[in-house]
Amino acid sequence: MDYKKYIAEKLNIDGLEKEQVYSFIEVPPNTDMGDYALPCFKLSKILRSSPVVIATNLANSFEKDDIISDCTAVNGYLNFKVNRLNFVKSTLDKILFEGASYGSANIGEGKTVCIDYSSINIAKPFHIGHLSTTVIGSALCKIFRFLGYKVVGINHLGDYGTQFGKLIVAYKKWSSLEAVEKGRLAELTRIYVKFHDEATKFPELEDEARRYFKLIEEGDKESNELFTLFKRITLEEVDKIYKLLNVSFDSYAGESFYNDKMAPVVEELKEKGLIKNSEGASIVDLEEYGMPPCLILKSDGSSLYATRDIAAAVYRKNTYDFDKCLYVVAYQQNLHFKQLFKVLELMGKPWAKDMVHVAYGMVSLEDGAMSTRHGKVVLLEDVIDKTIEKAYNVIQEKNPALPDKEKIARAVGTGAVIFGALCNNKIKDIVFSYDRVLSFEGETCPYVQYTVARCYSLLNKCGDCASFSVNELNVDEYEVVKELSRFGEVVRQASEKYEPSLITRYALDLATAFNKFYINCKIATAPEGTRAFRLAITKSVKTTLTNALTLLGIETVEQM
Ligand code: ARG
Repeated sequence: MDYKKYIAEKLNIDGLEKEQVYSFIEVPPNTDMGDYALPCFKLSKILRSSPVVIATNLANSFEKDDIISDCTAVNGYLNFKVNRLNFVKSTLDKILFEGASYGSANIGEGKTVCIDYSSINIAKPFHIGHLSTTVIGSALCKIFRFLGYKVVGINHLGDYGTQFGKLIVAYKKWSSLEAVEKGRLAELTRIYVKFHDEATKFPELEDEARRYFKLIEEGDKESNELFTLFKRITLEEVDKIYKLLNVSFDSYAGESFYNDKMAPVVEELKEKGLIKNSEGASIVDLEEYGMPPCLILKSDGSSLYATRDIAAAVYRKNTYDFDKCLYVVAYQQNLHFKQLFKVLELMGKPWAKDMVHVAYGMVSLEDGAMSTRHGKVVLLEDVIDKTIEKAYNVIQEKNPALPDKEKIARAVGTGAVIFGALCNNKIKDIVFSYDRVLSFEGETCPYVQYTVARCYSLLNKCGDCASFSVNELNVDEYEVVKELSRFGEVVRQASEKYEPSLITRYALDLATAFNKFYINCKIATAPEGTRAFRLAITKSVKTTLTNALTLLGIETVEQM
């Protein structure tokens, strides 16, 4: 039920469109003031009258009914009270009926969104810096799908560049197939580091690396086989993490995929007179727009990161005909994306306006000096493993008889990492703390998961709430249902602002409202009718929290 719409329909105000009235209606911060309010100062210019007079006149002519039980004028505001019994009953009925699809919508029907996220670099360690792009991007995929959009999740692999020539040289000199199969990414990192050490002494290694990179590009068989090996090893390794985090992709078309797709784009840039020569290199001059030039080709004719991104954007438009194309990439690349979007605009692509850089802040560890298997970088896998292990220890200590401890520790541990990364506005830098994300108090995943487990335990004990009616209502019950009713709107806002943290915050708010209700109201021991109603609330909270966590890629548990 859209109460705002209902109120707007009922109010007949001369000289104002229904849509306009609709847009003026607010939800007051304090429920004592009413459930909805129309601030009449917004009308006084149009109606040429004072807010107090407008509010009084409107209140006098308003006809109350079964849905809106009260309408009063207070200090130039028109305050509405909805029939709360009706509202509560219809909200719970809706949730119980819709279940796993509660909160979803079809506003995206017929529209496609491309989401470029995670976009890891081949043969490089998957470190904590990739956490945000991976979990924000994945959550956005799930959110947009929930709203009916067709989503194309793209892992724009960093699989192009002279570093692959270096790896081939290093592999041939200091490694072997067996060593790579066994040592995996750690072995690739080892030989890559060794290459750099050796190259300071023997600079000719760099030339050799460049030669090999050229061979990859030219399609040489042996070089490409090695390149494919490095890629396979990397993807197999990161796939374990993707599985843990419930992350998946529709396309792994990375930078090298665009090798044969750049020439036509460069040609188009030339034809449109956008290319300038600068000391042998080809650039697009962006001075007029207050930006440094966008480098398209180096003086030796080789392409750049930006060249491949231009080709990728054109390819995505041609292939998927997206309505929006999102890039979930750290704010360090703000300039790159501004340049990219500007170049596409200058090329006359009307869809350049549909490209969005979804920027996010940095993640660092509280104990920055934590040692890892790879020297300076903090591996994401280590962080997740350590969180799972700590979760396991807590379970072992508090609830050793719990069945499926390992499975629960995995859900709690990975959930804590994801939730920790999605808890705040995405642009903020975050400092990751194991103790904080695993705490049962405060704004954490275990707190929300524990609330879900509490619902399960109640429902398992008391049985289902087949039918219920709402005859009376206390404030704790009402506050929970009010939170429940907001979910769909929150999901929509999260998609509009590209901000999964709105869902994280919502889950915390709902859990808090439920726990207050749980403490203040008897459920299992309440009289029959009240009990059925309160179980209906409990089940609706379980459903809605599960839906919210699922959108974030977090699993729930029945016990913990
Ligand atoms: N691989 C790049 C990095 O790690 C991110 C790529 C982002 N996507 C893009 N289309 N540029 O910095």
